[in-house]
Amino acid sequence: MYKAGILGTGYYVPEKIITNFDLEKIVDTSDEWIKTRTGIEQRRQAAKDEYTSDMGVKAAEKAIKNANLKKEDIDLIITATITGDYPWPSTATIIANKLDLSDIPAFDISAACSGFIYGLKLADSLIKSGDFKHILLVASEKLSSITDYTDRNTCVLLGDGAGAVIIGRSEESEILSTVIHSDGSKLELLYQPGGGCVNPASEETVKNKLHYLKMNGADIFKLAVEKMPEVLEKALKLANIPAEKIDFVIFHQANIRIINNIAKRFGWPDEKNIVNIQKYGNTSAATIPIALAEAIEQGKIKKGKLIAFSTFGAGLTWAGAVIKL
Ligand code: ACO
Repeated sequence: MYKAGILGTGYYVPEKIITNFDLEKIVDTSDEWIKTRTGIEQRRQAAKDEYTSDMGVKAAEKAIKNANLKKEDIDLIITATITGDYPWPSTATIIANKLDLSDIPAFDISAACSGFIYGLKLADSLIKSGDFKHILLVASEKLSSITDYTDRNTCVLLGDGAGAVIIGRSEESEILSTVIHSDGSKLELLYQPGGGCVNPASEETVKNKLHYLKMNGADIFKLAVEKMPEVLEKALKLANIPAEKIDFVIFHQANIRIINNIAKRFGWPDEKNIVNIQKYGNTSAATIPIALAEAIEQGKIKKGKLIAFSTFGAGLTWAGAVIKL
């Protein structure tokens, strides 16, 4: 058995900024409402011809460089996304092609906001088993492509962006625990009804706006504040690390009220709680790796630090992890 750790991180967010004031002009909302109810001030939006794979490639190139590797060292690509370039095949194969890596295995994980931690768990096992040496895990989302900009309940929340990590054999850095869960019985609280075999694309599905993300925000909120601490507790226990020993925590960036409520329950002060929701909103699977890579780039998080992750999202899925960087 080898030890697996995060060797490098990278992120990319599109140039275009959509502020709350921009959204005030298209739906019945206000900067004040969005800021106080969610913590979001702005989000990024990818260009029309800038795809999930393009953002993923940019984040991946940075992660490979920061790991001091060459792209040829990568022997597997896993992409976590719910907004792939196409319904199929996987966006991971497109990313592999855009990186000029034509022979290596590549596939996607569909676990919405929990996709990054699902991928982390899988990559951890595949490195530990000795099957792979350097896995590129990319979480990339173009949520603007499934956002209904007439629905104030969802359009103020979502943004585009990508985060990537390289997971490989390591003595210093280590993935200490990963815990993943799901509950398919509550699927309709958060999903895209159209485009699959239940509601294949038709004039009717387009007219009824079934290709957009639909969410029951209040119910998701209640479940997130219950499941995120629960899974975090499990991840800490499995890693055998008490909460007070954790140097930094990164929650899925969906709502500042969820994030601060849970951080407080664990006794983590603001300095330990990495938050960037005000700048990027909810980028689904990409929130945690973007926040991690950005905090490392800013020099906030350094090698050797203990970091906890916790997330909740569509599926429903929820997940937690503890790593030593
Ligand atoms: N501007 C102004 N008013 C609004 C807006 C808006 N953008 N959105 C909703 N409202 C209104 C509602 O219509 C409602 O009005 P009503 O009482 O007249 O019906 C009122 O505000 C309160 O609505 P709530 O839904 O109760 O508002 P809440 O405080 O719960 O905030 C929110 C809504 C921000 C969506 C919150 O529920 C939330 O963050 N939920 C969790 C989201 C989340 O964690 N998602 C997870 C993953 S996302 C993914 O997987 C991609």
